[in-house]
Amino acid sequence: MMKKMIYCLALCACSHLVSAQQRPVYQDETQPMEVRVQDALRRMTTEEKVALCHAQSKFSSPGVPRLGIPELWMSDGPHGVRAEINWNDWGYANQTNDSITAFPALTCLAATWNPEISAIYGAAIGEEARYREKDVLLGPGVNIYRTPMNGRNFEYMGEDPYLASVMCVPYIQEVQKSGVAACVKHYALNNQELWRDHIDVYVSDRALYELYLPAFKAAVEQGGVWSIMGAYNKLRGQHACHNDLLLNKILKQDWKFDGCVITDWGGAHDTYEAAINGLDIEMGSYTNGLTSESAFTYHDYYLANPYLKMLKEGKVPMNTLDDKVARILRLIFRTGMNTRKPFGSVCTEEHYAVARTVGNEGIVLLKNSPVVKKGQPLLPLDASRYTKILVVGDNATRMLNQGGGSSELKVKDMVSPLAALQAIYGDKVMYAQGYAAGRPMYGREEKIAPEVTDRLRAEAVDKAKEADIVLLFGGLNKNHFQDCEGGDRLTYGLPFGQNELIEELQAVNPNLVLVLLSGNAVEMPWVEKVPAIVQGWYLGSMGGHSLADVLSGKVNPSGKLPFSFPRKLTDCGAHAFDALSYPGDSIKQEYKEDILVGYRWHDTKKVPALFSFGHGLSYTTYTYGKPVASAKQMTADGTLSISLKVKNTGSVAGKEIVQLYVGDDKCSVLRPVKELKHFTKVSLQPGEEKEITFEIKADDLKFFDETAHRWKAEAGKFKAYIGASSTDIRGVVPFELKD
Ligand code: BGC
Repeated sequence: MMKKMIYCLALCACSHLVSAQQRPVYQDETQPMEVRVQDALRRMTTEEKVALCHAQSKFSSPGVPRLGIPELWMSDGPHGVRAEINWNDWGYANQTNDSITAFPALTCLAATWNPEISAIYGAAIGEEARYREKDVLLGPGVNIYRTPMNGRNFEYMGEDPYLASVMCVPYIQEVQKSGVAACVKHYALNNQELWRDHIDVYVSDRALYELYLPAFKAAVEQGGVWSIMGAYNKLRGQHACHNDLLLNKILKQDWKFDGCVITDWGGAHDTYEAAINGLDIEMGSYTNGLTSESAFTYHDYYLANPYLKMLKEGKVPMNTLDDKVARILRLIFRTGMNTRKPFGSVCTEEHYAVARTVGNEGIVLLKNSPVVKKGQPLLPLDASRYTKILVVGDNATRMLNQGGGSSELKVKDMVSPLAALQAIYGDKVMYAQGYAAGRPMYGREEKIAPEVTDRLRAEAVDKAKEADIVLLFGGLNKNHFQDCEGGDRLTYGLPFGQNELIEELQAVNPNLVLVLLSGNAVEMPWVEKVPAIVQGWYLGSMGGHSLADVLSGKVNPSGKLPFSFPRKLTDCGAHAFDALSYPGDSIKQEYKEDILVGYRWHDTKKVPALFSFGHGLSYTTYTYGKPVASAKQMTADGTLSISLKVKNTGSVAGKEIVQLYVGDDKCSVLRPVKELKHFTKVSLQPGEEKEITFEIKADDLKFFDETAHRWKAEAGKFKAYIGASSTDIRGVVPFELKD
C-alpha cells in the first residue's frame, strides 16, 4: 500500500514536470510563428476568438484567460507614454507611478532630417513603454501635412512622403526592439481634425499613391510595423477603419502586412463592413446608439456579439474571424508573450539626453539677419554684449506637454525656456508674460478679457524699452483650436494678440528674437521687421535646455523645415480652391490641389513660400561644390550617382542637410517641378570638406500611372537638383533615362 502511494505521488510529480517541460506549441517561442498561431487557433472557441477582436476597457483588449494568452495593453503615443486612463471612461486614473519623459513632437523629429536621431528616439520611447508594461504604443503619426490649419500636424512628420518615410522607419524598428508594437497612424487621409469622424475624402489615385500612402508603406515594408491604426474619416464613401481598398487591397494584399489593424477610438461603424473589410481590433466604440458610457457594454461592440451572431448565422464567413485572430495572436506573441523582451526604464538620464538631442537637432533657425545696417545677427546670443535680456511670452513658462488631445503627457521633469536661460544668463534675465493664452480646456477656448491682453502687452513693451535684447517665446499651444486634436485652427495668423505685441516690441527694441513654439506654420505680417526667428516646435521635458543650447550657441542649429510656410493661407494648395477642397462641405471633401501638396504646389504654381520646405540656417556657412554625375544617361535597371563636395566655410562646427530633388522635364502627365528623393545630414568641422554621393534609381523617376495602375517612369530628360532647401538650389545636373 505504502509503495503504491509513493508510486502515485511520484507519478503525479512527474506528470507535473512533463507538463511544465512540454509547453503547448503556441507558448513555445522556439516554434515558428505561424505554427504557434495555428496551434492557438485550434484550441480556441469561436466565442474566445471574437472576444479578442474588441476592447475590454478604454485601452486594453482581452486575451484568452483559459489558455494563458495575455491581454493587450495600449497607450498613446506618439511623443511619450500617456498617463493611465480609467478603465471605462476618459478620465485620468490619477496614479502616482505614471510620469514619464516627454520627447519632442514628431514635427521636430522630422525637422532633424536625421534617421539616427529617429532611432534613438524610438529606442528611448520604446523603453519607457516597456517599463510601463504597454504592448502597443499608439504612434508614430505619418499623415501628410496638407494644410497648416490641421490641429494635429504637430504629431506628424511634415509634407513630404519621402522625408516622412525615411524618418518613421527607425522609430518603429527601435520601439519594437523593446517588445512593444508601434502602431502607425492614422491610416489614411486624416489630414484635418474638423469633421474628422465622418468627412468623406475624394482624392485621385495619383495623390493617394504618390503622397498619402508612402510613409505607411515604408512603415509596413521597411519598418516591419506590427500594428496600424485606421483613420476616422471616410475614403470614397467608406470609413477608413473598414475600408476595402485601404485595408484589404492595399495594406494586406499589396503590402503583405501580417500585423493587426486597430480602429481609431470609435472608428468602427458597421459590423458587416468591419468583419469583411480588414479591421482586426475595435477600440473606443459607442455602439447601438448608447451615448452614456456607464450604460455601455463591450459586448455591444460591432466586433463583439453582433459579429458573433453574424458568424453563427453564416452571414459573414468564419475565415474572416480566423484571419483577424491570427493577426491578433501574432501581435500578442510579439509583445506580451515575448519572454525575451527587456524590462525597460523611464526618466533615465539617457532618455533626457535623447529628448534634448532631438530638440537640439530639430530646432530650425528661420531667419538671422543683421539688426541694422552692418550690425551683427542677434544669434547666437553673445552674453558679453548684453546686461539685460528680456524674456517675453506665455510659452516661455508654459507646460506645453499639456493639452493637445491624446498626445498629452504627464511629465516627471520639465525645463521651461525661461528656467534654462536663467541657468545660463543668471540675473541678466528679466521676464514679462506679454500675452495671455488661457489654459487647456477640452473642446472650448478660454476667453481672455481685452484689458488683460492690453495690460500684459504694455508691461512687456515697457520692460523692452530698458532691455538690451528681447526674446519672445510665442506661437501656438495645445489649447482647443490651436495645435490640438479634435479641431482645426481658426486663423492662420498668430493668436492672443501676438501680432500687435510683436509690432510694439520691435518698435521700442529692434533687437527682437522671436521663438515660435508650434507644430504648424503661421502667418507673419511683421516678418521683415523681426531680425531673428527660430522655429522651436514642442520640445518636451528638456525643451527649455534645447532652446537655450541653440540660442546661446552651445549648439549650432541644424534642423530644416519639414513643411513650407505659405505667406498667406491661399498660397497653400489645399486653400487655393473653394471650400470643398478645404474644409469640405461637412460631408464630403475633394483634394483639389491633387499631387501638388506643399513645396510641390509652391514650385509648380510659382507661388513662393515665405519659408520653404527644407529651409534652415546655421551659425556657420557651407559651400557646395559642383555636383558631378557618373554618367549622362541611365537605364531603367541601372543607377546614376551624383557626387559633390560640401565644405564648412565658417568658424564653428555644424551639420548640413544636403537635399536631392528630381524633376521630369517632359511627361505625359503633370508632374511637380521637383520632388525630394534623397538627403543626407553631414557633420563638418570648421574648414572641413566632405564628399557626398547620392544614388539615383529608376524608382526615383516614377509617377503613379492611373490608367495602368502602376508606377512608371517615362524615358526622356530629367534634372537632379542639389539644394540646401527646396528653393536654395546649389547645383543642377541634367540626365536622361533611356528606354
Ligand atoms: C486619436 C488617436 C489616439 C486614440 C486613443 C483618438 O481620438 O485619434 O490618435 O491614439 O484616440 O487615445
